[in-house]
Amino acid sequence: MSGFKFNLDPFVNFVSLYEEAVEKKMPEPNAMALATVGENNKPSVRTVLYKGILRGGFSFYTNYQGRKALEISQNPNVCVNFFWPQLERQIRIEGQAEKVTRAESEAYFKSRPRVSQLGAWASKQSQRLTSLETLESHFQELDQRYAHQEIPCPPHWGGYIIIPEAIEFWFGRQGRMHERYQYVRNGSDWDRFFLNP
Ligand SMILES: Cc1cc2nc3c(=O)[nH]c(=O)nc-3n(C[C@H](O)[C@H](O)[C@H](O)COP(=O)(O)O)c2cc1C
Repeated sequence: MSGFKFNLDPFVNFVSLYEEAVEKKMPEPNAMALATVGENNKPSVRTVLYKGILRGGFSFYTNYQGRKALEISQNPNVCVNFFWPQLERQIRIEGQAEKVTRAESEAYFKSRPRVSQLGAWASKQSQRLTSLETLESHFQELDQRYAHQEIPCPPHWGGYIIIPEAIEFWFGRQGRMHERYQYVRNGSDWDRFFLNP
């Protein structure tokens, strides 16, 4: 058995396992694969960075006009997956994505490095790009335009929180006797059970 002491509240488990992944210096511990559902029920997946728990949801930040945002606007059901190979741990979170407030996006944007702020303005995320030079020169223009002023949060950029309906904790064990523990929301409580590996 993993020996992990599961709390009644899956958020407590998540935070404890996430902090351990950070402490033990997992590469990109906050990288999570985010799956969305597009038109015709076709899934797509990409990596985004988890930025903390906000109002009961797992947050990340992105462009509100890219593919994932478009898909979320059509279908808010999403799923994210963390995998920390050296620890043999995986956490899967299923739920619904909703936008954070403008004030929350602005506050987070302010904390980002200047190059990331410029990148958020420069990139028309997921749209076709004529050439890499086009993007580079757009970036340079913005760099000059904002040389002596604070860079505002673009209106098309911000965060989402994923409000979980189910969270599964997976611990790898020898002989494929992996330990899987699932939480499913039941009103204000969580049902909990083991799953076969
Ligand atoms: C390690 C890693 C972290 C990333 N973090 C983010 C992120 O936090 N937000 C984001 O919009 N894209 C992030 N990306 C880029 C996305 O994977 C993706 O290419 C981009 O968001 C466009 O996705 P879309 O076309 O499905 O909207 C990251 C990529 C990697 C490899």
